[in-house]
Amino acid sequence: MDSLRIPPSLSVLAPAKLNLFLHINGRREDGYHELQSLFQPVDLFDTLRFEHEACSTRQPDDVAIHLRLDPSSPVSLPAEASEHDKRSNLAFRAAELLRQHQIRMKGEDPLANAELHITLTKVIPVGAGLGGGSSDAASTLLTLNRLWNLKLPLKNLCSLGLQLGADVPFFLYQSACLAEGIGEVLTPLKLAQEHFLLIHPGCHISTPAIFGHQALTRDTPKRKIAPALRDELTASLSPLWSSKMFGNDCETVVRFQHPEVNDIFDWASAEGQTCRLTGTGSTVFIPCGPVANPESASLANRLAQKLPSAYNSRLVSGLTSGSHKL
Ligand code: C5P
Repeated sequence: MDSLRIPPSLSVLAPAKLNLFLHINGRREDGYHELQSLFQPVDLFDTLRFEHEACSTRQPDDVAIHLRLDPSSPVSLPAEASEHDKRSNLAFRAAELLRQHQIRMKGEDPLANAELHITLTKVIPVGAGLGGGSSDAASTLLTLNRLWNLKLPLKNLCSLGLQLGADVPFFLYQSACLAEGIGEVLTPLKLAQEHFLLIHPGCHISTPAIFGHQALTRDTPKRKIAPALRDELTASLSPLWSSKMFGNDCETVVRFQHPEVNDIFDWASAEGQTCRLTGTGSTVFIPCGPVANPESASLANRLAQKLPSAYNSRLVSGLTSGSHKL
């Protein structure tokens, strides 16, 4: 980067994701789970604003990156209360990781003569299986790679992203993907654009608590997808994933531990609808059909109107591409 140039300001969107299915195939020695999952980005977004401010007098130990939560955010981050917790935010950590990578590899500090201010407008519910934190981290890596003119290829960004979380590489792809390994082995694929009704019970679920539950690996049938089915899934635009062959292996544990999630499943079933959990929850989604068919949105709206008021719902649709360029 030209050390005299102060990078411009930019606002970007960070989408949520759904796990259209999530199969757990085993547990590695380091505690992470081997999985197969179909990730679909959807049009529910956090916004991140990146602003650089000229600064010539910073001492080596002074903080160069600042993160603030936009007070108008509809979703609050209780953990954002103190300066210490701000530093554990994934967008902050992504910016610092990329900066330190550049210092190590090139001996250049992208913030040698500037401070970076990140403002996060949080819309994606936290602890909801929608990947908001991971998406914020991926958007930060993609945006700063461009603003700092680093030109790191996707492969390098993915290995940095994986240090921040198993879902971060998926968000760097900006496409629906079949995820394998612990989530980092990715095959991008095209899916028909569908509407989904998201139903959020208002509770937060801790991912490590669900993945750490003994029953998860003990009781789930191993349903590693056979190669022929895997090929069909990645080649076809049809919603093959919605068949009964696929599901979310976390569902039993989450429904047992969180009655409010279980109640959504019971309600959907009484309405004659099938629904699934995304990730380790707590959001449940009902696939409502192709975006191209006006009936899909009507169905979603009818269901949303009937939903008990204790739950929040939102109609979203699958995204086919992202806005970041590498
Ligand atoms: O990688 P990330 O920090 O997002 O993961 C949160 C937690 O979820 C991990 O600490 C781990 O307990 C669990 N996890 C897992 N297997 C995966 C992904 C996440 O066990 N494939």
